Amino acid sequence: MCGIVGYIGKREAYPILIQGLHRLEYRGYDSSGVAMISTKGELNIYKSKGKVDALEHYASDKDLSGTIGIAHTRWATHGEPNDTNAHPHYSQSKRLALVHNGTIENYTVLKVALLKHGYTFVSETDTEVVVQLIEYIRDTNHCSLFDAVKEATRQIVGAYAIAVIDKENPDQIIVARQSSPLVIGVGEDEYFIASDATPIIEYTNKVVYLNDGEVAIVNRGEPLHVFDAQGESKDCIDITELRMSIEELEKGGYPHFMLKEIFEQPKTLADCISGRISSDGKRVVLSGVVMNKEKFLNAHRIIIAACGTSWHAGLIGKHLIEDFCRIPVEVEYASEFRYRNPVVTEHDILIALSQSGETADTLAALELAKKKGAFVFGICNVIGSSIPRATHSGCYIHVGPEIGVASTKAFTGQVTVLAMLALLVGQMKGTVSDETLHRVASDLRRVPKLIKDIFKMDSQIQDLAKIFTYAHNFLYLGRGYNYPAALEGALKLKEISYIHAEGYPAAEMKHGTIALIDNEMPTVVIAIKDNVYEKTVSNIQQVKARGGRVLAIVTEGDEIVSKMADYIIEVPEIAECLTPLLTSIPLQLLAYYIAVIKGRNVDQPRNLAKSVTVE
Ligand code: M6R
Repeated sequence: MCGIVGYIGKREAYPILIQGLHRLEYRGYDSSGVAMISTKGELNIYKSKGKVDALEHYASDKDLSGTIGIAHTRWATHGEPNDTNAHPHYSQSKRLALVHNGTIENYTVLKVALLKHGYTFVSETDTEVVVQLIEYIRDTNHCSLFDAVKEATRQIVGAYAIAVIDKENPDQIIVARQSSPLVIGVGEDEYFIASDATPIIEYTNKVVYLNDGEVAIVNRGEPLHVFDAQGESKDCIDITELRMSIEELEKGGYPHFMLKEIFEQPKTLADCISGRISSDGKRVVLSGVVMNKEKFLNAHRIIIAACGTSWHAGLIGKHLIEDFCRIPVEVEYASEFRYRNPVVTEHDILIALSQSGETADTLAALELAKKKGAFVFGICNVIGSSIPRATHSGCYIHVGPEIGVASTKAFTGQVTVLAMLALLVGQMKGTVSDETLHRVASDLRRVPKLIKDIFKMDSQIQDLAKIFTYAHNFLYLGRGYNYPAALEGALKLKEISYIHAEGYPAAEMKHGTIALIDNEMPTVVIAIKDNVYEKTVSNIQQVKARGGRVLAIVTEGDEIVSKMADYIIEVPEIAECLTPLLTSIPLQLLAYYIAVIKGRNVDQPRNLAKSVTVE
């Protein structure tokens, strides 16, 4: 949610900032802007509503010189997306410029106080208050920019990652972080600042992740100075070496990141299980679990906290863990959990499930559970992100950067890790037999190949997309392990095609939703051969009896549903608990092709952002 980029060094800043904004555009894309101190010593800000391309167009005839700058791509929270509300924001004297990711909760109180001191505001944003406050503190206390930022961070309440530059000091950027991510890339006599590592990786793989409450002085050609939440200078700064490659951040010949990420799944899932399942399929190892064996053996309950697609993966995790480990599992919307007064004890484990590792609600849920004494375990994709750093332990899904806003490969990666976790804990507890472990783990190893087989139906799915693009509403039905897959299929369609879609447990349909069925509303039914297959068959009959059109996802060779449904897509047979890993693939493709036919911006759907770092 909003992306920040910054550069200070020997190179021209503008191309680095613009390229960085393109890399971060998935975080927000309603407006963008850059601030640079030019070779003439001017502090120039250029901003534009719309995508980064619009900014580039606007700035093309401007003075783009300078080797220091900050930039921002916005997902609006306070104030509509327009040129004025876009970041960076000037201070009153136009001496300072600031970019911000997050939300300032007490900005109205601060604004009223600053208005009394004669400050005026041009935008409706909370961010402008921060830069004005910094200037006010610096001018009244006659202190350095660093001290002013430190004092301002003491006064503001909320979430922020900020970067500030001062026209009078073209050799310095001050950055600070509280609950919104900020990474500093360390190059040869140059520094790169960004909300995540993606804009940095093409220049350096050495990064410093700022922790909550930290403020850093980034001086040209000098060592980095980081101050902790207590204001103490850190003697030892942790430099992390990234292993991400630049190819992972490119579309690689695909028209959209989403399509690339769907087609990457055989590889990403192979990477996810690599080194974690033995080649004979008899052993599963997740070091984060093994190292905390006692916690898992003694857990009275597991709570999975997540949002969106991750929440759907969490629902599958509940089935897996309850099936194999006989530990009760609750799956919570992190945003609800954090504001209840949930019963959590030291005998509980909370699993924070998040692709980005930055989702504000999931982070807050884990902090709450930690405070209540629970053991907190993260399952995330983005290495070094906030959630893995706040948990006691965890494991990564290792599916590589997911750029498309609609989550695809992260979903299957999360389900894969949850399956391995359930098998491993089940084996440690003795609740899963060696035979079952062997069967399921061996099937997990087959998943990449089976997904490749499903891709052979790509053109068939494209044809189905053409048939169904007319619909304004869709119903997705599934049961058991595939009820969450139905929810996920519906979410995929909604978010990228803007077609209303509802996911439902198939049998629950007759308690109300069945009233919607007619020949206008297609029903997508996941009807694979599982323990409720016959029941699902009768749910399909109920839909057909009311004139509904059915597209069914069936097990290869199915002869019953294929006669009833209007259209079918076959998926290979596999252990029932792993079927969502296969059934979700055609649903991802269907949503994708429908959205493309409708001319939607698949990778950056309206109103959405990749990581939701605000409430
Ligand atoms: O990064 P997270 O997994 O914590 O994100 C949670 C949701 O915002 C995310 O899954 C969202 O629902 C997806 N964009 C849906 O495709």
